[in-house]
Amino acid sequence: MNDISLITIDGSAGSGKGTLAKRLSHELEWHLLDSGAIYRLLAFAACKNGIALDDEAALVALTSAIKMEFIAKGGAELEVLLDGEDVTRDIRTEDCGCNASVLAVLPKVREALLDRQKSFRQAPGLVADGRDMGTVVFPDAPLKIFLLASAEVRAERRFGQLKEKGIDANMDRLIRDIVKRDERDCNRKQAPLKPADDAIQIDTDKMSIEEVFSKVYQLSKNL
Ligand code: DC
Repeated sequence: MNDISLITIDGSAGSGKGTLAKRLSHELEWHLLDSGAIYRLLAFAACKNGIALDDEAALVALTSAIKMEFIAKGGAELEVLLDGEDVTRDIRTEDCGCNASVLAVLPKVREALLDRQKSFRQAPGLVADGRDMGTVVFPDAPLKIFLLASAEVRAERRFGQLKEKGIDANMDRLIRDIVKRDERDCNRKQAPLKPADDAIQIDTDKMSIEEVFSKVYQLSKNL
C-alpha cells in the first residue's frame, strides 16, 4: 500500500482531462503525470527514427534508448524534451496523437512504459491523467475520476485548443479522428479506455472547465 496521495483522471481524447490535471496539480502543488505525452513522445521518436508503429520489439528498445523529460510549467503546458530537444509543440499535433494511439495497442510497449509512469508517484502527491491510470497503472488510487463528453463537444474543445496554439485544424476531420481514436483506445485488448469500478464518472458536456475543476477540487479535499 502506497500512502502518497494520488488522483487519477482518465477519459477519452478531448474530454478535458489534461486541462483539469494541470490545474489540479498546480493548485494542490502535487506532481503531474501526463501519460499521453509519454505515448506521444514515443510515437514522435519512432517516426523520427523510421521505426514502424507496429514494430513492437523496436519500439520497446526505443523506450530505453531515448531520454524523455517532462517539465511542469505551473499549470500551463508541460515542456517536453526528447534527448534534450524541445518537442513540446511537435507532440501535440493530431497526427502525433493518432500515432500514439496506434502504438499504444501493443502490450509490450505498454509494459515497457509502466515503471516510468509509476515513478511519478512522489510526495506530496500526484495527479495522473490518461486512459488506464485508475485501472492499470495506479489501481490503488484513493480518488479516481473518469471524464465523459460527446465526440462533438470534444472536437469543439480540441479545435479551440489547437487554434490557441496556432495549429491548423478542420472540424470534420477532428470528429472523424476522435471517433477513430476512441474505437482504438476502447477496443484494444491491453488496458482499454474504461472507467475503474470505483471511479467517479463526470459528464462534462454541459459543464465549464471551472465547474469540473471545482467539483474535483472539492473531492480532493476529502483525501
Ligand atoms: O491523452 P492523449 O490524447 O495525449 O493520448 C494520446 C494517445 O496515447 C491516446 O489516444 C492513447 C494513448 N494513451 C494510452 O494508450 N494510455 C494512456 N494512459 C495515455 C495515452
